[in-house]
Formats: sequence, C-alpha cells, structure tokens
Amino acid sequence: MNTLRMQLRFLVPLVITLVVASYLALPLMDRLTLRWFSRDVNLRGELLTNTMADSISEALKDPLGLRLQVLFNRAVQDERLVAIGLCTLNGELLRHTPAFPRDLGCAQATETAGRKDPQMHIEGGSVHVGMHPVKADNGEHIADLVLLHDLSFVERRSQDTQKYLIVLISGLGVIIALITVVVAQLSWRGWVSGARALLRGEGLISPLISTSPELAPLAADLRSRLRDLEDEYRRSLGPETIWNPERLRALLRTQLRGDELIVVSNREPYIHEDTGHGTIVKRPASGLVTAVEPVMRACSGTWIAHGSGSGDRGSVDKHDRVLVPPGKDDYTLRRIWLTEEEEKGYYFGFANEGLWPLCHVAHVRPVFRENDWQEYRKINQRFADAVVAEARSEDPVVLVQDYHFALLPALIRKKLPRATIITFWHIPWPNPESFGICPWRQEILEGMLGSTILGFHTRFHCKNFIETVDRYLEARIEHEHSTISFHEDTTFVENYPISIAWPSDTTMATWAPVAQCKERVLQRLGMPPGHRIAIGVDRFDYTKGILERLHAVERLLEKHPEWIGKFSFVQVAAPSRSSLEEYRAFQDRIQNTTRRINERFGNDSYQPVHLLAEHHESDALNELYRAADACMVTSLHDGMNLVCKEFVAARDDERGVLILSRFAGAAREMSEALIVNPYHVEETADALHRSLTMPEAEQRERMASLRMTVHEFNVYRWAGRMLTDAGRWRLRERIEARVQRHQPGVG
Ligand code: G6P
Repeated sequence: MNTLRMQLRFLVPLVITLVVASYLALPLMDRLTLRWFSRDVNLRGELLTNTMADSISEALKDPLGLRLQVLFNRAVQDERLVAIGLCTLNGELLRHTPAFPRDLGCAQATETAGRKDPQMHIEGGSVHVGMHPVKADNGEHIADLVLLHDLSFVERRSQDTQKYLIVLISGLGVIIALITVVVAQLSWRGWVSGARALLRGEGLISPLISTSPELAPLAADLRSRLRDLEDEYRRSLGPETIWNPERLRALLRTQLRGDELIVVSNREPYIHEDTGHGTIVKRPASGLVTAVEPVMRACSGTWIAHGSGSGDRGSVDKHDRVLVPPGKDDYTLRRIWLTEEEEKGYYFGFANEGLWPLCHVAHVRPVFRENDWQEYRKINQRFADAVVAEARSEDPVVLVQDYHFALLPALIRKKLPRATIITFWHIPWPNPESFGICPWRQEILEGMLGSTILGFHTRFHCKNFIETVDRYLEARIEHEHSTISFHEDTTFVENYPISIAWPSDTTMATWAPVAQCKERVLQRLGMPPGHRIAIGVDRFDYTKGILERLHAVERLLEKHPEWIGKFSFVQVAAPSRSSLEEYRAFQDRIQNTTRRINERFGNDSYQPVHLLAEHHESDALNELYRAADACMVTSLHDGMNLVCKEFVAARDDERGVLILSRFAGAAREMSEALIVNPYHVEETADALHRSLTMPEAEQRERMASLRMTVHEFNVYRWAGRMLTDAGRWRLRERIEARVQRHQPGVG
C-alpha cells in the first residue's frame, strides 16, 4: 500500500509535467516550422525571380504583353506557386496570372511581404506573399515580382511533426514512468530496511551493501569519511570552557577571595648555577616543576623550595627570596638551605631510598634508616616554619607537594589551624601491605592527614591510601564522601590527574616546522636524511623502564632486520640522584646495554642506540619531540608521567606515535596511545614496529584525539579543580563557624 502511494506520488506530477510540456511545446513547434518554411519559400522566390529576370526584361518590350503572360503561365505550373503578378515601379499591377487575387494590389502585396509573418488567405487556403525586385542586365531595378506560394504543405508537415512529437513525448513518459516505478519500489524497500537498520544501530548503507557486496569498500570508505568529518567537527568545537591562566586567576579572586597561595616543594623551579663565566639559570627535569610552575605564574604567591644550585645563595635577597621567572618576576621563590648532611638524610636517604622505592614498587628494596628519618622530620619542620613565616594571613592556601613532605601538613596545621592545606602526592601510593614495610608508617599517615585536601593522580591510588589508613590508623572513613576524619580534622581524598600547560598559539608560532626539526636532529646525531627515530625522554631513574625499552629495541632489530641501518633509538636521560648507589648501578647498566646493542647491530656509520645522558633545556626537547617518529614512555610504575603529554602537545602536525606503559597514570587518560606492558619485551618490540609502519591516517587519528584530551585536561584544570574544592571547603567551615557562634552558650 505504501509502495503504491509512493509510486503515485512520483507518477501524478510526472503525468502533469508531460501534459503541460506538450501543451507548451506543440504551438511553439508550429510557429518554428512555419518560420523555417517561409525562409525557404523566400529563397526559392528570389531564385525564381533571378532566373526569370532576363525573360521578364525582354517580355516587357512586347507592347501587348503576351510574352509576359506566357512566361508567367509556364511558371505557375510549379505545384507550389499559386500565382504571379508584376508590379511596375509606380506600384501598378501590370500583369498577373489568373489565380492572382483580384483584391490584392501592389501596395498591399508590398506591405504583406514586409511583415514578419507574410501570409494571407485566399480561396483554397493560405499563401505566402513574396515581393522580389526584377533587375535588368545592367542591374537597374525595373519592376517587382509578386509570388504567391501555396503553404498548405507546411500545415501538412506541421501536423506530421506534431504527431511525431506526441508519440515521442508519450513514449518518453512511459519509459520515465517505468523507471520511476522500479526506482521507487527499490528505494522504498531500501529506506525502510535502512531506517530499521539505523534503529538497530547498523547505519544507512548496510542494506545496499548486503545486496551488492561490490559496494562494500566504497561504503566503508564513505562511512569512515563521515566519521572523520564528524570527529573533525567535534574537535573544532573543542571543550565547552577550557581552563586557562585567566580562569584560574578568576577562581582565586572569587572562590578563594584572593587569598594568598603558598607552594612548598623540595625541587625549586629555577636553579642558579655558577659557571666559570658567571651565573646561569636552569630549569630542572621534574614533572612536578613542569606542572606547578605555570600555575604559580598565573596565581602569583610564594614558592618555598630547597635552594640546591651553586649560585642560589648569591641570587637571593636578605630574606632568601628571589623573584622568578627571571625578567618576568611573576612570583616569589623562597629558598631553604640544607647542609650536605641534612640533604643526605632527608632527601637522598628517607625520601629517595625509602619512600620512592616503597611507593613505586619497582623491585628496588626501600631502605629505612633511623638517622634519615630524623633528618626528614627536622627538614619537614624547617619547611613548616618557613610556611608560617611567609604566610601573611592566618588562613593561607598552602599547596604541599610530594613525598618529601609527608609530615608537613600536620606541622602547618598545628601553627595555622585555619589554613587550607592541599597536599598533592605526585608518585603512586602502594597497597597497604607494601606500605606496611615503612617503620614510621603511622607518623607518615598522621602527618598527611593534617591536609584539608589530599590529592593523587588516580582513583586507584586514592583507594590504596584510604585502605592503608583503614589498616594502620584509628580513623573514621566515609567512603561515600571520600573523607577521612582523624582527631579533630577531616581530610578529603580525591584524584586530580596532573597535566601540562597547553602551549599558546603564540608559542606554537615560534616553533620550527617539523621537517626542519627532523633535519636538524638527524644532522646533529650524524644520521642520513629519511632515517627513522624513536625517542625516550626521562630522568635517569630505574622506575622509568629504560632498560626494558632498550631490550625492546634490541628485539625489534632481531625480529625485523630490515630496520638495521634505517632506525635508531634516542634516549635522553637527565642525570638524577646520582650520588645514590642504586642510581649509579642502574646508570652503568644502561651504558653497558647501550654499548652491547650498538656493537651487535651498529657499525662505523650506524648506531642503533644514542644515549644522551645530559640535561636538555625545554627548547631542545621540543625539537626532539617534533622530530620523532615515535616516543616511548615505558615506566615500570609512574604516578602520571608528563613526558607523554609534552610529546603530544609538541605534535601540532598530528603525526608521531606514542607508546605508553600501562603502569603510568597517564595510560588511563591516553588510551589512543599504543599501550604496552613494559615487562613484556616482545609486546613492546611489536608496538615499536607498528609505530614505525603505522599509516599516516591512523597516526593522525590517534594524535588528534590525544591532543584534544591533553588540551582540555591541562594543568590549569588540575589546579582549578583542587582550588574549587578548597573554596567550597573554606565556605563550609566559615558557615559552620557562624552557626556555632549563634548557638546559645557559645561565646
Ligand atoms: C618526581 C617527583 C618530584 C621530583 C621529580 C624530580 O617527579 O615526584 O617530586 O621533583 O621526580 O626528582 P628530583 O629528585 O630531581 O627532584
């Protein structure tokens, strides 16, 4: 029934169109044929006149006009010529054949012949009137010949043409109607099943493909193009409101009423180093600094950190403060001094030989010494005193950073009970059993619970922490609100995945094109044009999976010897904590493995592994990120890892492949990377091969999506979410305080 209705919907307008077309076309056709024949008849008349001109001129000499009459009578024997008349130059009808209409004079004949449609009706039908000048031998115009041609044959032909036209239009109509019926039938079925398939989520074109499998590749292509366009559109819209420095500043002004911000970390954001030629300023290789520095630039305030550079003392004022970044002076860096002994116990000992391996569970035994612990406590107290000294109000917002300061929150809380203390733990938090190894586990947990907000990168780390507290402290845990109440204080435990500051358009505009970066890097490393490279960028640390990465490179060259001579792996390893035995042994091991692989697969002109064990400034790293075909981040355990985010931010060309360890916090956000288990050498080698052979379209697809994530989930969002929660918390406390004041009996 529907099909019939559908077909009628097509057919009725079609029939109407055909009728109207015929109605308009037939008279037009008539007029056209008449005009064509008139032109023919005129030509014919001219020809006849020219042929007869001599005879007429001779015959005119005959005073009786008999010769003229004979000539004319002979001429009208032509079946189409009805009558002939001869007009003098004075307009007098001199001679004419018998059928010449009596009432047709020379003047009327001249007027009719000059019309667009030179016809007149005489007895027996229509005639065409032609007026043609007769010229003598010398070209003199001597008379005019009036020729009346029969037009009935035109009408006959026109009728014939009309007949043909009607048959043609009707024939066409029938054919079109037939095609319409068939197409309507087919497409109705197609649309119905298409709509059904759509409702089933199978798309519109699948019914067509099932009937014509040869269309399948075309349809697949079309589908993927449509999806591309859709994604492109979504990407172009971007997130609704992106977090940026302005938004963060506005948040501080509104939600935190412009309260001052104090950051505490062990590592300082700018290190002054004395060289033989004066003092230089260095940026340390530290994820923490990468993330927190842009936040401080946006918010101002004071950053308290260990002054570890040889030129640090010489560059501060008498209060141990210096304005940074140099030349911009956005915020104050307050330096804390440690003796070698203190640094050894607090930083190298307790923090990096104890807590670091304890939290990373990276198969390096944590070492806990009583002496280190005492230094750790002492230095935490020193930093707490510095916070109190730097605070200009009794309720500052203090951002405590990382495992160097587990005791700091409770120490600050003791002196500044109304402070909002946000502690962020930049490294993983292990399960309760692993954490139980620490002899001072209780003190550490109690110290951390001095925080108002305690942040980890992932939910998993939050869960581990809450379970650890549950196991070792007498605290009240509210899982629903993710809060821990211990003694008088309540701590909100939440995950805040850290990130980087997304480069601004102005920054990106200063970057050299990718091709140029590649050319420069290859040239610097002595590699030929077109050589493929994968990179690794890390602190020289055993948790980063550098050894596993080298094994994967070696396996790639074994499995795919076609890469020998055509591919190299470049590892940037910034020296770190080198005075620790564990680190020195690890660094030696990496040097040895590099040497071994290079001897095995390299030659005088080819080195499969380049180990660049030196500090690189951010511009040099950016160039390397842009030059790389692939970036390997294969941490054995990592809180977040910001190298992968920096790599993605550097690739505005949407090329390059990220290989990412599933044990890095970043793997939870960056699922478009090639996710690997770094302990599984075979899998990592395969991922490396895949990255080097990945089609450009796939690279683009993955990279564009990763870029969207990192752009949106940037470091301002990280800080913004923590500060928003802090703002809410402060508001709640203020309301509680007011309510208590109004209660009877409360002074
Ligand atoms: C990790 C830690 C940071 C530390 C960084 C560099 O990312 O979480 O707190 O700053 O490593 O280590 P370093 O010991 O050189 O400061």
